Amino acid sequence: MEPIDNYIDENRDRYIEELKELLRIPSVSAESEHKGDMIKAAEYISEKLQDAGMKKVKIHKTDGHPVVYGEWLGAPGKPTVLIYGHYDVQPAGDPSLWKSDPFDPVIIGDKIFARGATDDKGQLYIHIKSVEACFKANGTLPLNVKFLIEGEEEVGSENLEPFIIANKKMLACDSVLISDTSLYAPGLPTLTYGLRGLCYMEVEVTGPNKDLHSGSYGGAVANPVNVLAKMIASLHDKNGKVTIPGFYDGILQLSRQERENFKKLKFSESAYMKEVGVKELAGEKGYTTLERQWARPTLDCNGIVGGYTGEGAKTIIPSKVSSKISMRLVSNQDPKKIAKLFTAHIKAIAPKSVKVTVKELHGGYPVITPIDGKATIAASKAMERAFGKKTVYMREGGSIPVVAAFANELKAPAVLMGFGLNSENLHSPNEHFSLTHFMLGIKSSVYFFEEFSK
Ligand code: BES
Ligand code: MN
Ligand code: MN
Repeated sequence: MEPIDNYIDENRDRYIEELKELLRIPSVSAESEHKGDMIKAAEYISEKLQDAGMKKVKIHKTDGHPVVYGEWLGAPGKPTVLIYGHYDVQPAGDPSLWKSDPFDPVIIGDKIFARGATDDKGQLYIHIKSVEACFKANGTLPLNVKFLIEGEEEVGSENLEPFIIANKKMLACDSVLISDTSLYAPGLPTLTYGLRGLCYMEVEVTGPNKDLHSGSYGGAVANPVNVLAKMIASLHDKNGKVTIPGFYDGILQLSRQERENFKKLKFSESAYMKEVGVKELAGEKGYTTLERQWARPTLDCNGIVGGYTGEGAKTIIPSKVSSKISMRLVSNQDPKKIAKLFTAHIKAIAPKSVKVTVKELHGGYPVITPIDGKATIAASKAMERAFGKKTVYMREGGSIPVVAAFANELKAPAVLMGFGLNSENLHSPNEHFSLTHFMLGIKSSVYFFEEFSK
């Protein structure tokens, strides 16, 4: 064991205490009441970046929540890695579904429970501690490091792309390193090379100008809830294909090689069904579950509200209903184009008996990163060293909107070296993060610096 591994192991308790402090800040980007907490979280990150040895640490204002930047460029001639992460978290949701306070972290066994534990505070903190360990144990970093930590990932990173464009020189790098994805299985080193894109829409259907008595008016006036439900149901055909004209145009088909690679990953449908509590899986015919999750586009209604759902019964024809509908996209689908196709189709299928408005909320491009690049190979070796197993490659069904901008604006490939697990309840109650993976992550990050600097 090298001195740096000792240093990391000896400081485990302090690392966890510091992470707990970060997790106590309810930095929920979607809720305006937490605006002050966003600043607190940014300040905490910037303080820890400074403590770790980063220079020019600064909180940059944007039109939304602030961006934290810091750099250490003391290795001229060596590569530069830009580490990206997000300090914002999803809303906690119904507190009664949590076994402990979402913003008062508790440790049970190997797991730390709190909103943001795995997505993404625990994962981004890995890199702050790996930098600290390098300086403390070795007195230096083997390459140049930049940090870009944002506060709006969970709401679409709307202000980060303009920030990147305006600060191309400051952010210039050879590779972007991101820990905001999952391991394929506990203890199994994994690199993710594909993310789906996203197109998020809102549809509102209005019928009569007020709620009406469903006895007096039922049968004569269109019920907007019935209408919207029927419209949503019609967005899939009997084979699970999305019915929006043009939706699948230009999609890259999976190569046979990739399908083979997916098949090599251990996957138990029954364990998967048990984990999520369903008796049967669903989706597009002709594709395996992993293919449907990682490499096929989808459409889902995320929520629908309208009419009466309170106590007892109230007999009405509601005036209005609204819903949020998202589409996950794969390579060559353009979220802006998909938003137009969606809007046109919804308007086309809406009956004249209601008024329909469609709004585009946010979007992100799908990405595939090269797996034969220098940075990916370095990351693969680094993880193998830390975990003592061979690295596997996977794609991910979720999205990280800014990754496409790194490729387009900075011309830098991203390495998605995540340490979470999809079973760690990200975006759900009782989110948690494995402390074993946290520690292995810190070591992987240190080894990545070494490998990539060679
Ligand atoms: N870290 C996730 C992406 C992710 C999801 C990685 C699942 C691994 C497994 C990220 O924070 C996220 O939640 N992204 C959003 C993007 C959206 C809000 C623009 C998503 O995928 O829904
Ligand atoms: Mn995330
Ligand atoms: Mn998330």
